[in-house]
Amino acid sequence: MKATYAIGSDHAGFSLKEIIVKYLAQKGFEFVDYGTFDAASCHYPEYAEKVADAVADGRHPLGILICGTGVGMSIAANKIPGIRAAAVSDYFSAKYTRLHNDANILCLGERITGPGAACEIAEIFLTTLFEGGERHRTRLDIVSAIEKKHLK
Ligand code: RB5
Repeated sequence: MKATYAIGSDHAGFSLKEIIVKYLAQKGFEFVDYGTFDAASCHYPEYAEKVADAVADGRHPLGILICGTGVGMSIAANKIPGIRAAAVSDYFSAKYTRLHNDANILCLGERITGPGAACEIAEIFLTTLFEGGERHRTRLDIVSAIEKKHLK
């Protein structure tokens, strides 16, 4: 079965969400859109939770969240166990956060990154595989152990 990707935004990321979905749909990527569905003011953590839950429970291998900066979305999404959300605004970080961190959610800022670069950053993120290997797995195991230790 073909993978679908989770996407969500707040009002400040709404236009960029529409642009990214359109750009990547033309390249064959399929998304489930978790909202928001218009530019009315809303609260970014609510959309971060919807997308992060859907990735954490395995409905999607990867997700994209967009707000004004990408930072609020990453802070909120990283509260969900199993989520490694990265706020990214350049190609290199998009690539290496998949290769080395096995990031599973990309967070973009519509007020930071222009639409052309954001679309390509999203494509790099969705098409780059985790490099694996003992070095990176050990470090991710440490991250998971920290998460587990602090879960109440
Ligand atoms: C909304 O104005 C803005 O604060 C939000 O989109 C985001 O940038 C928070 O991190």
